[in-house]
Amino acid sequence: MTSIPKELPDALRTEHFFNDIHHQTFLILFVSLLDAVRKESAVVVENCIDNITVYLFIHFLDEEEGMTYARSKGWVLPDALAEHAAVHINLVQWWNTHVFFPFKKGELTCESVFDLCRDYCMRIIDHIGAYDLKTYGPTVRDTDGSLGENAHISLSRLPLSPYMPGALQIVTMLAPDVVAEINPQSIAPAARLRLPALRLCAANQPVLPDGRGSYRDILYRGNGGIGVVSSAW
Ligand SMILES: [Fe+2]
Ligand SMILES: [Fe+2]
Repeated sequence: MTSIPKELPDALRTEHFFNDIHHQTFLILFVSLLDAVRKESAVVVENCIDNITVYLFIHFLDEEEGMTYARSKGWVLPDALAEHAAVHINLVQWWNTHVFFPFKKGELTCESVFDLCRDYCMRIIDHIGAYDLKTYGPTVRDTDGSLGENAHISLSRLPLSPYMPGALQIVTMLAPDVVAEINPQSIAPAARLRLPALRLCAANQPVLPDGRGSYRDILYRGNGGIGVVSSAW
């Protein structure tokens, strides 16, 4: 039986600092979740599942905003960005369909939560290798490019974790049915604060050209195309 690595393997490092921190954090959350399932600690299990759920939206959105910036620089091709963002949607839908909603309805046994969550973590690890490395890895940007993208994400004021202002508002915008099921006790007080005025990359071209709306597209539309960042950094 495959077990989850506790540390992000070197081969999966993108050298994009917050992206690597996010990926490491996913491993920590899943290891904690599986440990809590083994101990039958119901409160911790729900807390981990809720925070993983919020983190998925935050992480994928941050990646898509970073890739939109990278696309504006010519580092990432539009088709590659669209394909990557479509996989994000599939990953979230799988989690919600097979884990989040059935768990909230009390339909999962401890054993099935364990197996599903371990398998899902492996899917995330596969995604990092198959997609994130292609769009964030050192083969895609040089160090200055990576620093510029990190600066852009920081200055966009998007939340970088489920514990930052606006995190809950982001999930409300992207998936109101999910927010309704999250246990309020799982959410950090700061996450309930309002989203600051965002300064997203000026990109009228949607990430997903078929109109489905990537997470970044939905946010951009929902904000009325808030703020246009100067790409000077
Ligand atoms: Fe990722
Ligand atoms: Fe990704």
